[in-house]
Amino acid sequence: MSNFLSHISKILPENEIEDFAKSCNLPVSKSIRFFSYAKDEKKKVGYEGDFYKLENKIDWAEDGFYLEKNSKPSKSLDYIRGDFYIQDASSMYPVAKLKKIIPNNMDINYILDYASSPGGKTTQLADYFPNSIVLANDVIKGRINAILTNLFRSKLKNVILLNEDFQFYYDLPLKYDIILADLPCSGESLIYKKKTSIYDWSFNEVLFNAKRQKKISGNLLNLLNDNSYFIYSTCTFSKEENEDIVDFLIENKLNLIHNKRLWPHKDRCAGGYSAILKKEETENNSKNVYHQKETNKKIEFVDNQTEKLIKMLSKNPYFNIEKIINSGYLYFKKNIIFLFPFPKILKPIFENAISIGQALAKLEKYGTIPLWGSIDYANEQYVLKFDKKTIYKLAEGSDLKELSMKFDNQYLVAADDEASLFLLKKTGNGIKNLIPNFMIVQSS
Ligand SMILES: C[S@@+](CC[C@H](N)C(=O)[O-])C[C@H]1O[C@@H](n2cnc3c(N)ncnc32)[C@H](O)[C@@H]1O
Repeated sequence: MSNFLSHISKILPENEIEDFAKSCNLPVSKSIRFFSYAKDEKKKVGYEGDFYKLENKIDWAEDGFYLEKNSKPSKSLDYIRGDFYIQDASSMYPVAKLKKIIPNNMDINYILDYASSPGGKTTQLADYFPNSIVLANDVIKGRINAILTNLFRSKLKNVILLNEDFQFYYDLPLKYDIILADLPCSGESLIYKKKTSIYDWSFNEVLFNAKRQKKISGNLLNLLNDNSYFIYSTCTFSKEENEDIVDFLIENKLNLIHNKRLWPHKDRCAGGYSAILKKEETENNSKNVYHQKETNKKIEFVDNQTEKLIKMLSKNPYFNIEKIINSGYLYFKKNIIFLFPFPKILKPIFENAISIGQALAKLEKYGTIPLWGSIDYANEQYVLKFDKKTIYKLAEGSDLKELSMKFDNQYLVAADDEASLFLLKKTGNGIKNLIPNFMIVQSS
């Protein structure tokens, strides 16, 4: 037996070890999680979208489905539309469970997802808790693009993306009602995906990760509000990286509400561990969103600049001003106009944010130009419906030839029967497709 399997045999009954070992070398069933804004008629077993078909519902996740084997969800227009996130079923577990546990009437002001990239759980949190501000952080700069592209594809507006270390959060005058610590781990559930072998496993790596997990979790504990929830999760099985960290959190006065280890050989997922803990009310009953670390330091906010920015956007008839006003508040940062559902943002968060909600437009010398995030906020006359063939051409990145209609504005939106899909630019030579490279669907 490999070192890995003998290590796992401490937490798994002997008669399951063989099945577990086999499953480590097998691909996992593909699964997707629909966002709440996607049409309900799609969220049914048997639904067949382009390039994918829903096979079974995932037991534990609202709107989570396994796909039929030949599905290629990343090629689907529904994916471009931002209808769903491609996510392993085990990764959906912790946030789905929290949603079931947390009281419906609880005020959840701020959520911190400290290790958020590529954004599976961030987008789930933001979708399930739309009245909260979700701070999605990743300390590794090279990982920011992955979550940025996933946020870009979604229609979520309540996420602020940051690339900061713990000290930044420690210095903020904020407490969180939910903290998610989905921490870097030894990745024992990713053996097949990483194309490694069970023989590459090392106990030292487990111990190295456990030490780091304990340090990060210990730091994050200090940021919890009274009556708040802490989700701890990993995609690994070892007790040292899971229960031992949870024991440490319990020693630090959190109550364990729920924990679960999912296994690839019996739970139809890659597997992993998660725990939901609660910080109860403390003696001084301090249910505060903002707290002042230095008593005489003023808490500063950046106010939205909706009125002024609406004036700027109004100069371009492309923008549907009424819809924008009804959807949130506008902020201006580094020449970008962002749409965000809350009227003010703490100053240090605003100043350090990489993205705030949806990026709608960019201010250039000659006016305000639409960005991709604006495709749902274009006036009707700029939204052109195309047939399926043309829409797939656009999905593959092709430009289009000249249109017969005349436009006094150079930005247009391409839509199918269901929704807006692509941003286009009318030029002298035809219609330029502004689809970003990462969204282009490869034809095969
Ligand atoms: C398990 S992944 C997060 C997955 C993500 N929550 C999701 O659901 O899509 C862990 C993340 O931790 C980040 N990370 C790596 N080293 C770290 C460190 N020393 N402290 C905090 N985060 C770290 C990685 O960049 C990675 O994105």
